[in-house]
Amino acid sequence: MSRRPVLGLLLAASLAGAGPDSAAIYGRHCAKCHGPFPAAKGAEVPRPLGPRLDDPRRLADRSDDELLGAILDGKGAMPGFRASLGEEEVRKLVQFLRNPRKGRRGAGK
Ligand code: HEC
Repeated sequence: MSRRPVLGLLLAASLAGAGPDSAAIYGRHCAKCHGPFPAAKGAEVPRPLGPRLDDPRRLADRSDDELLGAILDGKGAMPGFRASLGEEEVRKLVQFLRNPRKGRRGAGK
């Protein structure tokens, strides 16, 4: 009568279903190396390890597949997130990085 699997199932369900949104996932898994997102103007990033990702223009020359692959399998000093987040969630993250302010479309600056 072990109940151990229950916790894992709950976790899987919360990730797969109406789970945390991409901004929250970014905050939990990515901000420590890439800085908070969206960045407050002039916000300090303590020893960022990775490039800032808060400007979609920085990623304009990368394809979605390149970004997906880098996040899933790692790149340089970045670990892969295939095991911890899964492909579906990482796809959403890529879309989030592409358009962090969706809903305010056309607000260009
Ligand atoms: C341990 C620190 C660390 C964490 C955690 C981390 N990254 Fe990175 N990330 C890096 C570094 C370092 C690079 C630069 C890799 C290189 O080009 O050599 C990078 C590069 C990237 C790139 C650019 C890839 C490219 O093709 O130029 C993206 C996009 C990215 N990270 C997204 C994420 C996302 C999304 C997360 C959270 C799920 C994340 N990173 C978590 C360190 C990290």
